[in-house]
Amino acid sequence: MVRLAMLCNLIMCGIVGYICKHEASPILLDGLRRLEYRGYDSAGICLWNKDQFQILKKTGRVENLRKETLKHDHSGQAGISHTRWATHGGVSDENAHPHISWDNKLSMAHNGVIENFALIKRELEAKGVSFTSETDSEVLLNLIAFLYDAELKQNHATADVALLKALRGALSQVEGTYGIIMTCVDLPDLIIGARKGSPLVIGVGDEENFLASDVTAFAGRTKSVVYLDDGQVATVSGTDFFITTMDDVAISPTIDTISWDIEDAEMGSYPHFMLKEIFEQPMAIENSMRGRFSQDNSTAQFGGLNIAPRELRQIDRILFLGCGTAWHACLIAEYLIEKYARIPVEVEYASEFRYRNSPLDKNTLVFTISQSGETIDTLEAQREAQRKGYRVLGITNVVGSTIARENDGGVFQHSGPEIGVASTKAFSSQCHIAAMLSLYFARMRDMSFTDGKEIAKALKAAPGLIAQALSRADQIAEIAKKYAHHDDFLFLGRQMMFPIALEGALKLKEISYIHAEGYPSAEMKHGPIALISPDCPTVAIALKGEIFKKSLANIQEIRARKGPVIAITDAGKDFPEDLADEVIQLPETHEVNHAPLVSIPMQLLSYYIAVERKCDVDKPRNLAKSVTVE
Ligand code: M6R
Repeated sequence: MVRLAMLCNLIMCGIVGYICKHEASPILLDGLRRLEYRGYDSAGICLWNKDQFQILKKTGRVENLRKETLKHDHSGQAGISHTRWATHGGVSDENAHPHISWDNKLSMAHNGVIENFALIKRELEAKGVSFTSETDSEVLLNLIAFLYDAELKQNHATADVALLKALRGALSQVEGTYGIIMTCVDLPDLIIGARKGSPLVIGVGDEENFLASDVTAFAGRTKSVVYLDDGQVATVSGTDFFITTMDDVAISPTIDTISWDIEDAEMGSYPHFMLKEIFEQPMAIENSMRGRFSQDNSTAQFGGLNIAPRELRQIDRILFLGCGTAWHACLIAEYLIEKYARIPVEVEYASEFRYRNSPLDKNTLVFTISQSGETIDTLEAQREAQRKGYRVLGITNVVGSTIARENDGGVFQHSGPEIGVASTKAFSSQCHIAAMLSLYFARMRDMSFTDGKEIAKALKAAPGLIAQALSRADQIAEIAKKYAHHDDFLFLGRQMMFPIALEGALKLKEISYIHAEGYPSAEMKHGPIALISPDCPTVAIALKGEIFKKSLANIQEIRARKGPVIAITDAGKDFPEDLADEVIQLPETHEVNHAPLVSIPMQLLSYYIAVERKCDVDKPRNLAKSVTVE
């Protein structure tokens, strides 16, 4: 019960803090706008007005908050702000962040979940502390404020010493996860942050600094960043910053540089981020290959695996872990690695792995796949595997993310920022990297030089093939118009195209709110065929190869039951005319390119159907870009 209440409270939020050269409010609001993609339902800001806090909070869009902010006078050069995301209930101005402590001394924004908030709240209430919201976050804030007051009064500590002591004292009492930023009326020249389980990063600017949950918040103002680790506390002024552990041990920071430009995180001339990112796929795939083929072009190579070929040779089994779309990429990796490298591969949902305690062979190599590198289920699964002593490698897009920093090595995708909630370019690049890994492992085992060269050549052709698939966009937009009114869809594919069918169904569900299911084509006869009717279109993948005829037979079974069929094929004239209502033709290519290639029409179909249904494509209801609580 308590747990459910907390989940309703805070699931997916964005944090931005700023100090000091310029007026804070436009910079904070701009940062919040850039974090909108994370998903949220209310937003708030804490600014300085003369010597006091001015807190403004609004449900709905950041734009509502911006309009509200314009009505007030505040020229302060520091502040904190937040976008809050709730699953159901509790969406109100009161529950939005930042919160202000009961004595008006501290203000705080929080991402995460304080699990023992109810007990702490009762204890504080017994001591006379009052609350204005239902959130666990306000409990943490008031606990800090209570301890701060005690430090000042009983120990006569200076404000900065007292606050850091109170913060550490409070954080040692709470159970759960947090990424927090706070500000104090007694310390107008500082913002303070701490993290455990929720990301926090310092943006190091020119006489201005940031503390945010995501580099996107300040990417237009500085490219220099310091990623905080769990258990660290940051004290940030306009010109400096200090990082310490919870035990007050100083940490010397590593300043990293963001590799992408702010334009990459802007929509440009596209109507939605999702469409922009779909069309960025030739480049994303190209980037995933840069510098990753051997000189003789017979294998792939990876700089960051941190594992010697001799050690890799000892691996008996690989376990892939991920969630959602990334889990589908894990299934693609399973198919390709088993087929080409002949290494047994298992795939588990990261969320299941963590609690299943499944027996793993000692020579198992674990891989996590995550676009954001912050998905808590994947992060905790990675930690669990590492705790058991397994080496964990990752395929991650966001450099500096927690998963990437904590794993033992891996492959960065270099897809550029993915802002649309529905993952597109990150997925195709994960599939492509899986194909390169299968070549790498295969060449380490039994694959010949000649076969390796052929696969490397095929992989290099992928960007051009994807561009050809994208040229079908107009045809797919027309198909979408015709079928957008349906409320049920089936997606069918066999072997490696089964995960692509699952992915097609997930994309449609996510952004169009249409019920969709993905099945292996031959499984249809074992149940789902009962759904077939003129009201339930099927998207059927039928690629040339061993099972092409069987796939055609499956389509025939649907047609016999008057089910509309949208076929995706590479068979050209070999695809029987009139077998399907719509036929989307793709270029023929080596199987290693099939996953990203066939994903293109799936993504475009979902996109155009969502647009037809007037859905909010980039910010679908109930969804967040990265899910940082369980
Ligand atoms: O950032 P991650 O790749 O770890 O995210 C995993 C899933 O939450 C994510 O793929 C989700 O399923 C997307 N919304 C799919 O489009």
